[in-house]
Amino acid sequence: MKSHSLLAAAAALAANVHLVQAHCFIWGVFVNGVDQGTFRAIRTPAYNGPPPRGYANSPVKDLNSIDMRCNVLGDKQVPHTIKVQPGDNLTFDWHHDNRTAADDVIADSHHGPAMVYLSPDPPAENSFVKIWEKGLYELGSEPFAPGKWATTADIAKNGGHMNVRVPAGLKAGQYLIRAEMVGLHEADASYEKVPWRGAQFYPNCVQIEVVGDGTVELPEGVSFPGAYKYSDPGVLYDVYCSTDKTRTATAPCTTTYQIPGPTVWSGAWPDTTQVAVGPVSGEVKNTRWNSWITKSVVTTATFVGNTPMVIATSTYTASWSARYVAPTAAA
Ligand SMILES: *[C@@H]1O[C@H](CO)[C@@H](O)[C@H](O)[C@H]1NC(C)=O
Ligand SMILES: *[C@@H]1O[C@H](CO)[C@@H](O)[C@H](O)[C@H]1NC(C)=O
Repeated sequence: MKSHSLLAAAAALAANVHLVQAHCFIWGVFVNGVDQGTFRAIRTPAYNGPPPRGYANSPVKDLNSIDMRCNVLGDKQVPHTIKVQPGDNLTFDWHHDNRTAADDVIADSHHGPAMVYLSPDPPAENSFVKIWEKGLYELGSEPFAPGKWATTADIAKNGGHMNVRVPAGLKAGQYLIRAEMVGLHEADASYEKVPWRGAQFYPNCVQIEVVGDGTVELPEGVSFPGAYKYSDPGVLYDVYCSTDKTRTATAPCTTTYQIPGPTVWSGAWPDTTQVAVGPVSGEVKNTRWNSWITKSVVTTATFVGNTPMVIATSTYTASWSARYVAPTAAA
C-alpha cells in the first residue's frame, strides 16, 4: 500500500509539471446571490499565450513582483464597478475553463489556502487589509494524503464559490477587493532558489464601490508586493510531508499550517455566509481574448477566423495611479 501511495504521489508531482497553464480566476461576482455579470468589474489576468489556448494565467511566483498586487495587467481598470453596501454577502465565482457546474475550478493537485483582502482604490503603501482566510482545515489520514485545503476541498468542491461579507459600517468609497488562491503543490522548494518550483499565487482584483453612510475606516494593512516572504512558513511548505506519518527524513514536518500574510482584521465578519446564488448572466464559455502577455510583452490582435493578426506589441510596465480615476464606460 505504501509503495502505491508513493507512486501516486510521484505521478501527481510529474503531472504538475504539465499543469502550468491550468489555472483559475474569478469569472463573476454574486452580490447577495445575484450575479453581476461574467467578468464585470473584474480585472481578469491576461493569459500567457495566444489562442487557441484560451484563458490561462500562469501563477505569480516572484514575491517582489508588482503582479503580486492584482496579477498580470492588474493595474488596468475595467469599465464597471460593482456597488455594494456594508453587510452585503459577496460570492466570487472562481473557474478554470468555463463558468459551469462541470468545470474543475482549480487543478486538483493545487492544495493551498485562500485569502481575501480589501484596499482603497487605488492601493497605497500598507493599504491591503485581510478580511477572510482559510487554509488547511482537516489533516489527511493516509501517508502523503495532503488533507483538506481551502482551494481544492472547499472552493473547488463548492462550485468555485468563495464567500466574503462587506465589513459592517464600512465608509463609502471606491475599493479594490484582492481575492487570492494559492497552490502549494511545489512549495516545498522556494522560488527564490529553485525558480521552476515554489508556491503559486493567483491573485485577482475586483472593483467595488461601497455606498451608504458607514463611518468605519480600514486600518493600516499590508503592501503587495511586500506582504509575503520566501521564508514565511506558509509560503515554504510541503503539503505531502505534513501528513506523512511514516516519514523518517531529517527535515521537520509540520502538521499545522500558518496562512501567509497578516491576521484577519477584527472589523471583518467572524463568520462567512454561504449564500444561495441565482443564475449566471453572461458568457459561460472560454471566450477569445484580444490581448495577452508572454514574458512581459503585451500583444494585441484581431482575428481572421481563428488566426490572430497582431496589431501591436508593447513591453508591460505596470502603472498604478496614485489617485482614483473613474473608469471610462465600456465601448
Ligand atoms: C448576509 O448573510 C447573513 C447571514 O446569513 C444575513 O444575516 C444577512 O442578512 C445577509 N446580508 C444581506 C444584505 O442579505
Ligand atoms: C468546459 O470546459 C471543459 C474542459 O475544457 C470542456 O470539456 C467542456 O466541454 C466545457 N463546457 C462548456 C459548456 O463549454
